[in-house]
Amino acid sequence: MKTSVAASWDVDSILRVGMESLLDLFDDSCEGTMAVDDHGRIAWINDKYAAFLGLKTPESALGKPVEEVIPNSRMREVVTTGKPILLDIMMIRDQPLVVMRIPLKDDSGKIVGALGFALYDRLQRLKPLVSKFAELQWALANTQKELAQLRHTKYSISSFVGVSPVSLELKHRARRAAQLDTTVLLLGETGTGKELLAHGIHAASGRAGKPFVGINIAAVPESLLEAEFFGVAPGAYTGADRKGREGKFKIADGGTLFLDEVGDMPLQVQAKLLRVLQEQEIEPLGSNTITKVDVRVIAATSHDLKQLVADGKFRSDLFYRLNVLPIVLPPLRERVADLDALCEHLLEQIASRTGMPQRELTPDARAFLASYRWPGNVRELRNALEQAGMLTDSITLSAEDFSTILTIDDTHPMQAEKEATPAPTSTPAPVEIRPLAETVAEVERSLIKAALANTNGNKALAARMLGISRATLYQKIEDYQLLSD
Ligand SMILES: Nc1ncnc2c1ncn2[C@@H]1O[C@H](COP(=O)(O)OP(=O)(O)OP(=O)(O)O)[C@@H](O)[C@H]1O
Ligand SMILES: [Mg+2]
Repeated sequence: MKTSVAASWDVDSILRVGMESLLDLFDDSCEGTMAVDDHGRIAWINDKYAAFLGLKTPESALGKPVEEVIPNSRMREVVTTGKPILLDIMMIRDQPLVVMRIPLKDDSGKIVGALGFALYDRLQRLKPLVSKFAELQWALANTQKELAQLRHTKYSISSFVGVSPVSLELKHRARRAAQLDTTVLLLGETGTGKELLAHGIHAASGRAGKPFVGINIAAVPESLLEAEFFGVAPGAYTGADRKGREGKFKIADGGTLFLDEVGDMPLQVQAKLLRVLQEQEIEPLGSNTITKVDVRVIAATSHDLKQLVADGKFRSDLFYRLNVLPIVLPPLRERVADLDALCEHLLEQIASRTGMPQRELTPDARAFLASYRWPGNVRELRNALEQAGMLTDSITLSAEDFSTILTIDDTHPMQAEKEATPAPTSTPAPVEIRPLAETVAEVERSLIKAALANTNGNKALAARMLGISRATLYQKIEDYQLLSD
């Protein structure tokens, strides 16, 4: 607190001289010193720093936003928060610099700018820290590069394994879709590879270098869906969204937006989506500005969209807009010819992930897997292979290994099947009336016979297929004297 004019002059002058000496000292021992004003514009920069940054003269940087001269600068952060960053490492022109940044405040405590010092090379004690940082930086850059390559090659249309005629046709359609840049609709039961194919289509398209952004509509609460799609303007809300947020359409700009489970979209959002698809422009929540976006949409659903339209749960105009190029992914049970290739691919994947040797399937295991209904499709197949592998050390997996995992009568009726089931007729066809037990026995006998024939006499497997215990099967074989047949 100032007590007299004379004393205040003394303190001020001492402080000023002190500051000047300190600045001289820093200026002398630092590689670079600079100051920004309260708008983050460069107010001053010393000759050494300007030369280090490759500037012709220090004056050429004055008045410029700091990021224009030092792209990853955090000086603006110091001005905004008023908090110093006392020790930090920053890469400038591929050189790690130790930097220190402090806010500058006037007498009233108002932030008027920030001062930054960059040290390089001079503080020998920081050498180990700096070189460790440089090492980590290098490792990170390498990992990122590898990851980008992996991403690039991980999802191609040929990652969709399948050799059956339907699979080949489906991949052919997907390749054409990739070139056409129109909206694509992927239809198929759960686990049939819709997401995998969506990635493949993006990777084979002209948008491959741009983002692939996915949104699972079923997983987003209804009240947040619009914000998720179209973004939120700054200041539209308090709290977390105060600063505003970009929507998925904006993030996917130039690339592909994958709308997963599109059938689960609330009607009100459907109307907005339709508008965006038609106009290719979005209006973030709470803003009245419209932004152009260039996004290709790939939508997917495991529901019967036509039925949803008929039920009034899905807008027909949106359905037609999405249904430009539908691709149907048939359930696994309808492309049994793909099973061997899929199993080999999945077993290889599992082996490389778990570090365990790659398993093989015995012929009876193949027969068993081919007879299963696969309500969960390829995802279920993958899980079954993984589980079976965990239950045994043997390199080969037999039907027996799957029998505890997959129960034949554990069928989740599929939508398609529900539709295919004819409505019960009111007048049943005339049948010969016989004692019930006799008819049941006849049917039972022929079913057991068929099951034994299909499994080459493997009783454990046949019992599984019939959904009965092995003991019951033995009993019935004896009752019906099937072995002597
Ligand atoms: N043809 C295929 N070749 C190789 N892997 C496949 C194939 N189809 C599916 N998969 C694998 O099966 C799993 C499920 O696939 P995906 O997530 O693409 O299915 P989906 O149709 O999107 O399922 P859902 O409707 O449940 O979201 C993934 O691990 C995927 O890699
Ligand atoms: Mg999916």
